[in-house]
Order: sequence, then C-alpha cells, then structure tokens
Amino acid sequence: MACYIGIDIGTSGTKSLMIDADGNILAESSSSYAVAMPKPLWTEQDPELWWNATLKTVRAVVKQSRVKPAEVKAIGLSGQMHGSVFLDKRNSVIRPALLWNDQRTAAECDEITQAAGGRSELIRMVANPALTGFTAPKILWLRNHEPKHFDRLTRVLLPKDEIRRRLTGEFATDASDASGTLLLDVVRRRWSTELLSKLQLDSSLLAQVYESEQVTGSLLPEIASQLGLTADCKVVAGAGDCAAGAVGNGIVRKGILTASLGTSGVIFVHSDEPQYDAQGRLHTFCHAVHGKWHMMGVTLSAAGSLQWFVSNICTELAARRGTDPFHLITAEAANTEPGSSGLLFLPYLAGERTPHADPLARGAFVGLTAAHQRGHLSRAIMEGVAMSLRESLEIMRALNVPIKELRVSGGGAKSPFWRQVLADVMNQPACAINAEQGPAFGVALLAAVGNGQFKSIEEACKATIEVTSKSVPRRPVTKLYDRLFPVYQSLYHSLKSANTALAKT
Ligand code: XUL
Repeated sequence: MACYIGIDIGTSGTKSLMIDADGNILAESSSSYAVAMPKPLWTEQDPELWWNATLKTVRAVVKQSRVKPAEVKAIGLSGQMHGSVFLDKRNSVIRPALLWNDQRTAAECDEITQAAGGRSELIRMVANPALTGFTAPKILWLRNHEPKHFDRLTRVLLPKDEIRRRLTGEFATDASDASGTLLLDVVRRRWSTELLSKLQLDSSLLAQVYESEQVTGSLLPEIASQLGLTADCKVVAGAGDCAAGAVGNGIVRKGILTASLGTSGVIFVHSDEPQYDAQGRLHTFCHAVHGKWHMMGVTLSAAGSLQWFVSNICTELAARRGTDPFHLITAEAANTEPGSSGLLFLPYLAGERTPHADPLARGAFVGLTAAHQRGHLSRAIMEGVAMSLRESLEIMRALNVPIKELRVSGGGAKSPFWRQVLADVMNQPACAINAEQGPAFGVALLAAVGNGQFKSIEEACKATIEVTSKSVPRRPVTKLYDRLFPVYQSLYHSLKSANTALAKT
C-alpha cells in the first residue's frame, strides 16, 4: 500500500499527518511552539523550532500508522507564508526568521514601490503591491538595519523550504509560496528578474521554483533513517499554507471559495486566469493547482483574536482543567443576541492586511456599556472577524467573481456557532467539509499526485473531499448584520488617526 505524509509548518505549531492511497488519514501529530515578539510590531521564530517539531511529528505519525518504511512514497510540505529564513554560505541560519505578521518593514515597502517606479509598475511586475508581511521588504530590512548580517547572506528561504533543505539538501520552492515573496512574476510563474535588478538583489539568493506536485528531491539517507523512512521517499514542492489549505478543502475549481479561521483568516478563491483587484487590496498569487491562480484577502488576527482573548483575558477559564476554554467561551457567546447588544470588535490586533494594508491599525471594542458581559465580548470578536472577512468577500463580489459555494476551514471552523455567524454576517451559506486538516492534508494529496496516485489534484480532491453540512443565513439576522456592516467599516477610518498616534507612543 502506498502512503503519503503532509507536513504543515504553522505559526503556533507543526502538524504532520499520514494518508493512505485513498486519502484516509492513518495518523496525525502536532507539536506547538511560541512566537517571539522582541519589540512591538515584530514577530520572529527560530527555524530550529520548526525542524525539531518536524522530526517529532513525522516520527510520531510513522510510528502510529504502523506502515512499513518503504510504503511511504512521498512527502508534501506546507507552511506559514512570507517568513524569511536567512542563510549564510555554510547554510547556517543568520538570525531568527521574520514572520508573515511582522510589521517592521513599512519604510522598506515604500523603498520597493519607489524602486519599481510606482505602485502600478510594481503590480505589473509581481501582481501585488508591497505589504509589510511579504518577504522582499524583509530582505531590504536586513540590508538597511543589520548590514553585517546582510553581508553574510547567501540564500533566503521560506519556512517550509528551509525544512525541505534539511530533509533533502535541495533549495527549492513552489509557485504559490514564492508568490508571497513579492519577487515572483506571478503571471509567468518565475522570478521577476526585472524587480530583482531594480532592488539590486541577486537571483542566486532565491530557490528554484516548481509547480506544487513536482518532485524536488528525496530524503537524505541519514534523515530518512532518523525518521524511520527510506531514502527513496520523495519530497514534492508543496505549497504555502493558504494554497495548501485550499487544496485540502477542495478549492480547485471556479466558483468555490474558502473562508479559513486560523490564526489569520483568509478568503480564498480559485481562478483559471490571473485576476486582479486594481486597488491591490486582494492578493493575486499562483495556486497550488498546476497553471492556475487564486485571489485572497487576509485578516491578520482571526482565530488569533479569540486566542488572545482566551489566553490574556479569560485566564481562569484557560486554567480550568478538563474543559476546552474555547468551548466555554463559544457557549457564552451563543447565549447572547446577534449584534452583541450594540458591541463591535475590530480584529486589528497585529495591524491589518485586507482591505486596510496598515501596520498601525489597532484592535478595538466599540460601543461598550456596563451591561456587556464576557459572552458579548466573545460574540463581538467572532462577529468582528466575520465582518473583516466579509470585507474581502465584498471586494470579490464587486469584481464579479463567481461564488457558488463557500467552505469554512481552520481551527475556528470546528465551531458550528462560528460557522453560523459567518453565514449570517456574509449572507452566504457556509459549508463544513469532511476534511478538517487543511494544509497538511492538502500537501499530502499533492504528494500523492506527484507520485502518480491520482491523475491531477482536481481528481484527488474529488475522490476525497465532500461537504458534510451547511449553515444557512437566517433572514432577520442577516438584515441586522447588513445594518451593522457599514458601521463596522466606518470604524477603521474614524479611529485611524487615534490608532496611528497610539501606535507611535
Ligand atoms: C497569508 C498569510 C498567512 C500565513 C499564516 O498571506 O500571511 O495566512 O500564511 O500562516
């Protein structure tokens, strides 16, 4: 029997899983780690954390599944996008990686836009405007602020590609993840030599770009034996976690969207051609489906907002033994009325990307009264995240993107209550699917396709993923949210100057 492993190098932890040739999950394992925040607006991680978690979780799934080493034919890699692993000529990591939600690079984004000859020239070259989370501004930040480190720089890898280097010795990436560097010519699916030369960056810094199901190498013999696998086990290119998650949710043809509720929240739509939002609010990236693209809008703190609330505000709930604090919080939220009795939450705890590319945006509860209780606050958080995702959906609606089905994924999607909130806020049925594992499952399927198990990724998704339930928008509630949505939208603008001043104190 052929089996496949998917590994997802996430922000809060790494997850690995093993599937059989029919896509059934045989074993899964996760290992968590922390994000370092050495200064306000900065987020970093030491790639060694990802490597240790990869070894631990892959060994665990190999052991649990009890498959024979030679049966594991291929591995797929996914991971948090945009992170910068800086390597020197000995392949040593020069400094901790800057992460996707790091916001220190506003000046470098301006520098890139200028060097490109303006925002529309930049969009022409790489399909996207410069955003603080992307990788290219991180490289310029290193050059501007840590020149000694920059002088040693030989390679820049994305998080999952650093794990690939350690597994296989190869420097490789895939078109979906490479899109988030801001250095890929997204239309032609190759590095933009034009932008690289304008930024005076050498293309030898970057890894070779593959399509997601292509094989980039196989396990180094000593690593294979550490993992309990064989050196014949291939590693396919894989995908950034958004595209990988979309594959894991079956978002591989026109008209199907996903709303994911992970640390970040993403509205992701498949597209047969590269399609743009002229204002650059949505990202246009290559998809993990060979020769296809996608558009997406990103809320930086989605389930991350609820996580913040539980870990920092509801500390006594988080400390209670034997109960899941999220379950308790959701039950309290469900006991309150839609609209949280006039309370709105802005989820900009880490600045924002879509539609406001603003590192200085800040979170807020607005409308608070003495009558509000904890349940109102948690409901307002879930509603605020849904409103933020609706902003991306509205841009897609305005671009006439066909929307036939919305599937909800990510940790937050496990809550039927939050799925209902999404359906009501977006006025769009929200479907749950049988595959809950998102990116790790998506890249395990890509590994199976790369090994010839399925003819195409579309075929792999059709064979393994189905809708299991649907939350349908409830008419009076959608009307209420339709009235609240413009109020929510106005708050970013009303609070902008106050938040900018506060962020600078
Ligand atoms: C996507 C993004 C996030 C990270 C989270 O552009 O920044 O979704 O990939 O892992």
